[in-house]
Amino acid sequence: MPSSEIKEKDSIRLRSNTYFILSLICGVSFLLLLTLSGPLYFRYKIPYPGFSSFLSGVILLSVNLAILFGIVGVMQSRLQRKIASWEETLGKSIKIQEGEFKDRQATLLQMIRFLVGFIESKDPYRGGHSERVCQYALKIAESLGITNGRELNDLVYACYLHDLGRIFIPRHVWDKPGELTQEDYQQIKQHPVFGETVLSTLPGLVTIAQFVRHHHEREDGLGYPDSLSGNALPLIPKIIAVANAYDAMSSLRPYRPPFPPEVAQEELRRCSGLDFNADIMSKYGFKSQSERRFDPHVVTAFLGNGKKIWGISKKKIMVVDDNYLTCWSLATIMTREGYEVTTAENGIEALEKIRERSVDMVITDLIMPEMDGFELMEEVKKISPAVPVVIMTCYYLPENAREAKQKGAFEFVEKPLKPEKLQEIIRKALPA
Ligand SMILES: [Fe+2]
Repeated sequence: MPSSEIKEKDSIRLRSNTYFILSLICGVSFLLLLTLSGPLYFRYKIPYPGFSSFLSGVILLSVNLAILFGIVGVMQSRLQRKIASWEETLGKSIKIQEGEFKDRQATLLQMIRFLVGFIESKDPYRGGHSERVCQYALKIAESLGITNGRELNDLVYACYLHDLGRIFIPRHVWDKPGELTQEDYQQIKQHPVFGETVLSTLPGLVTIAQFVRHHHEREDGLGYPDSLSGNALPLIPKIIAVANAYDAMSSLRPYRPPFPPEVAQEELRRCSGLDFNADIMSKYGFKSQSERRFDPHVVTAFLGNGKKIWGISKKKIMVVDDNYLTCWSLATIMTREGYEVTTAENGIEALEKIRERSVDMVITDLIMPEMDGFELMEEVKKISPAVPVVIMTCYYLPENAREAKQKGAFEFVEKPLKPEKLQEIIRKALPA
């Protein structure tokens, strides 16, 4: 409803209320006069002359007031009906606007998940990282008793976007197998600032841009980029810092194997000043004295409530298709399910990535330039014979299905692959 109509509705409501009060006064006066006038005259026989004229005047006035009362009552009921109809229209309009707003929010979040999932799927070491950080962070928020919808919404957006600035740092710096130089480290330290710079240009994401900027700050003030500490650091970046560190520690990196969950948890304890098990840490070569990187309350919340998701599936799936939209959509669906997804545009790229880092399953298109799905499957089986390979095609022919079966394909399916069918195949190929 336009704002001019809302203003008019308010003024009518005011008038209607005034009429209502007026009608009430009229009605009460009428009844009072009618009740008092008769007894006054007949019981006390007031002696002064002209009393009967006074009484006639009172009765006349009462009749007039009664007529006025009736008119005002009718006017008020008509106004009330008009207000009720306006309120109904306004309610409908608000509901439509709320629905549209929610739809837009959901679409924006889905788009962000698509984009982030796709960018991460290009990196053999970080597939699904932001999705898992978000799951860990929501568990921490639940444990800390955060129920405010706005805060939770900001947390989700900040989790998905926390490493956006990484796209501006050369990949060879991130994936360096050896020690980082001082120069490399200075470049890496810029990624929260780059992320904030991009996000702060979008009016709806200015607050989230600040959370992204601070996700590498530390409780002791030794973090970057602004060396914030303690209460100067908002809660959301503190939560992301813990979730991010846990996922990074429990994931493979080019320079080290993933830490077992109990080691990653001990490291969180050690780095928050909480009691930790020095024996476990020394076994894995960690320093035994504690640090103060993380807020101990946030770490305690995570350790107390994260159990259900510590065993989150991290099976690695490779999607190979020269159609990037297929790679993108499949990567998004599987990342959401907790899998680490890597994509490749052709068989040669896929084999390079598989040699660099093994995968648990391959889903490939049949018809691709240079190397088709059957040839790729043969090469994959030479590297990892037990890896299930699913072949997809837009042109389903029974002879191709037979050939796929003979050559050892796990499934031969028609594209586009529906999410339910995809989940069913993965569950069969990679039982928990
Ligand atoms: Fe980061």
